[in-house]
Amino acid sequence: MKLHVIIPLCALLTLTQQTPSRDVNCRCELTHSEKAFPHDKLSTAEDSASKCNSNVTPQKTLELESLLLGLERRVPQLQEDVSVLEREDDGQLYSVLSLLVVENELLEIKQLINRLNRTMLAHQWLTTNTTNELDDLRAEMQELETYDTMQVVKRQQDNQRLKRDLDKCMHGLQPTTQPTQPPHGYCPHGQFRNVTGPRVYTAGEYPGSYAYGAWGRDPKPEAGKENFYWMVVLTSGNKFSNYVRFYSSLSALIVGVSTPGNIQIHSSNPTTNTIQGPNVVLYGGALYYNCYNQDAVCRFNLTTKAVTTLRLAKGTRFNSKGNFCHLDDCYLFTDLDLATDESGVWVIYTTTQDFGYMVLSKVEEPLALGQTWRTSVYKQGVTNTFMACGVLYATRYVNKDTEEIFYSFDTTTGVERFNLGIFINKMSPNIYSLNYSPVDQMLHAYCNSYMVSYKVLFL
Ligand SMILES: *[C@@H]1O[C@H](CO)[C@@H](O)[C@H](O)[C@H]1NC(C)=O
Ligand SMILES: *[C@@H]1O[C@H](CO)[C@@H](O)[C@H](O)[C@H]1NC(C)=O
Ligand SMILES: *[C@@H]1O[C@H](CO)[C@@H](O)[C@H](O)[C@H]1NC(C)=O
Ligand SMILES: *[C@@H]1O[C@H](CO)[C@@H](O)[C@H](O)[C@H]1NC(C)=O
Repeated sequence: MKLHVIIPLCALLTLTQQTPSRDVNCRCELTHSEKAFPHDKLSTAEDSASKCNSNVTPQKTLELESLLLGLERRVPQLQEDVSVLEREDDGQLYSVLSLLVVENELLEIKQLINRLNRTMLAHQWLTTNTTNELDDLRAEMQELETYDTMQVVKRQQDNQRLKRDLDKCMHGLQPTTQPTQPPHGYCPHGQFRNVTGPRVYTAGEYPGSYAYGAWGRDPKPEAGKENFYWMVVLTSGNKFSNYVRFYSSLSALIVGVSTPGNIQIHSSNPTTNTIQGPNVVLYGGALYYNCYNQDAVCRFNLTTKAVTTLRLAKGTRFNSKGNFCHLDDCYLFTDLDLATDESGVWVIYTTTQDFGYMVLSKVEEPLALGQTWRTSVYKQGVTNTFMACGVLYATRYVNKDTEEIFYSFDTTTGVERFNLGIFINKMSPNIYSLNYSPVDQMLHAYCNSYMVSYKVLFL
């Protein structure tokens, strides 16, 4: 178009030059047939590109990814639980509860799918809208480029920026951030808020036989044992035990069919390095407990069947001298409470030099006592403790139906709180062991021969 304008102009000039030098009125007629530069279009394109940038964020793809991951973990678990139920069904043992577990799992999966559906629909919209916007942008850019060749230099930089935005926008559709491992001490689920349930309530394989015991899941399971549950019952005088029993799944535990069976520490019960008291935990393929008749933590390696011991400080109360208690009763042989959380194993106890106040130590690997913290809560004023995210929680007896998580001690900040006011609905009067499972955010309790679990809610 410019050419179109220039040529007649040049022709005019040569014409005037060629004319003999007479008084001639020379009139140049310049017709500007060119369209004005579409500044408004450029600004619209710019707006669309920046909108596109803010709409498509890596967080959006991460959300979908984590939902899918959740589903990926849940579905095989359900499949396994259902097939175990089918395998072990003898038409009699089937309690309504075992079906309730599957029903609960199904419900959770359904909720996950609904959220996934909602997210997917939103993403579909986003993809459609973004694709349309990108097509429009491309067309506009191509049109704008024709002006560019006419040296609309001032806008060249803007155009380059737009192109970069476009590129960014297109790349924004790919997941650019990978989920990373949480750093040490990081609480993946946020702040402990509340407990609901019970979610599981079962008499297990030996209904009513053993009042004291413990059960749960290994937070750091060995390969192939990810869905295993373990149980320890105090078979000798409600005080001692010499084995740990395994179940291949939660439903197997509920119906009382133990596939791998017992793993024995020693044939005698009690004897040196067998289990004393109910506050036992399993971690990384080893059982941690108070060794019989010692102020020591025992670690029983399930693979090698070897026991390693860790003596606690001189003055540590043991043999029922520093128990968990409430006003009417003390729980025998609960001097040493083993606990697990995201970071490993802990032991809660008291000593003579601490005048009965609760003391907390990290149990390190290889077996050694790590850092120790002193609390200002009296151990005999507490009924149980557990750890979550490096925070110690303690419970007290309110009445036969209610237990209260009243106290916390944060090992990172040293802050103590005495007014948590989180209540647990009990199915039996006494919680003899209580432990947090970081794999599924459940509290596992053993109460008067019942196995009960609660869901922990985080903020
Ligand atoms: C997904 O959501 C849409 C609309 O809300 C609904 O029609 C559809 O049935 C849902 N699909 C599933 C699998 O839930
Ligand atoms: C996509 O566009 C439709 C209509 O044009 C609008 O209703 C919807 O909110 C947009 N969705 C997104 C995620 O931008
Ligand atoms: C905890 O959950 C129960 C219901 O399960 C509710 O009544 C209570 O108010 C909750 N407590 C807090 C502190 O959110
Ligand atoms: C158990 O012993 C085996 C063989 O020595 C070792 O590889 C494994 O780490 C031990 N497990 C624990 C939890 O100490």
